[in-house]
Amino acid sequence: MKWEALAPAALLLLITGCNQMPGVPKPGPEIPRPDAITDFAKLYGENCAGCHGHDGQNGAAFDLANPVYQSWVDDATLHKIISGGEPGTQMPAFGQAAGGFLTDAQIDALVHGMRSAWQKQGALSGMPPPYAAAAAGDGAHGQATYQAACARCHEQENGKVTDPTYLALVNDQTLRTIIVAGRPDIAHPNWQGDIAGRPLTEQEVADIVAWLGSLRVATPGQPYAH
Ligand code: HEC
Ligand code: HEC
Repeated sequence: MKWEALAPAALLLLITGCNQMPGVPKPGPEIPRPDAITDFAKLYGENCAGCHGHDGQNGAAFDLANPVYQSWVDDATLHKIISGGEPGTQMPAFGQAAGGFLTDAQIDALVHGMRSAWQKQGALSGMPPPYAAAAAGDGAHGQATYQAACARCHEQENGKVTDPTYLALVNDQTLRTIIVAGRPDIAHPNWQGDIAGRPLTEQEVADIVAWLGSLRVATPGQPYAH
């Protein structure tokens, strides 16, 4: 055999290396370790969408795509909630320090991904009350403010937010978040406009939350005390 007859095979070997020799299976696509995934869409889709909705809205839990919310909450708070969960709600703790599966880098990727997907310039046209309540509110004032500002929409329809069974599923921060940031996906107004015809004050928000909180009972869902 002349050497020219061998050349094509030798060339093929040079180009493809050993992996594609006949009989050797092709390697599959690289499967990344789960803790190496930092793609926002993938992280959000696999860990969050089931409760918070596919595009961050219309889920059972709060609409994270709410632009008012994204302008209101800071990075450190988001990181802390995703990592440690939200006590008193069904929000799980995802951070490895709390027994979850996400690394700090993945939680950062979620925070930054939410910002670029859902934060909008100019979403806040006024100064909202701070994210965390500075002081406990006054429940008696809160009841009066609720009657004036909330009852017209919540007395008959739109879910009774005064129902202890509902209140057992949310903590005070959740109530505060919904009152301040609104839930545009389910037509709930934010603190600024349609609730009272003027922005709610920090004190009013704290008072309403204090009153709703006082309606919680020890055995929610059981109408008769034992
Ligand atoms: C098992 C359902 C569930 C899953 C999964 C889940 N959440 Fe939550 N999350 C909740 C609930 C319930 C709340 C409390 C608020 C409410 O009731 O809507 C909450 C609250 C939050 C809040 C706080 C809202 C506030 O008041 O400031 C953030 C931020 C959040 N979740 C982000 C995430 C992210 C990011 C993921 C995915 C890594 C995720 N959640 C996965 C159910 C869930
Ligand atoms: C203009 C009407 C309107 C006003 C005013 C209003 N709400 Fe709502 N609210 C709604 C609607 C609509 C929903 C969505 C109900 C649903 O989809 O089940 C809602 C939902 C909520 C939820 C979430 C319930 C859930 O199932 O997730 C809370 C909490 C809430 N409102 C509290 C309040 C409080 C407190 C006030 C007063 C500060 C208030 N709302 C004022 C219309 C209103």
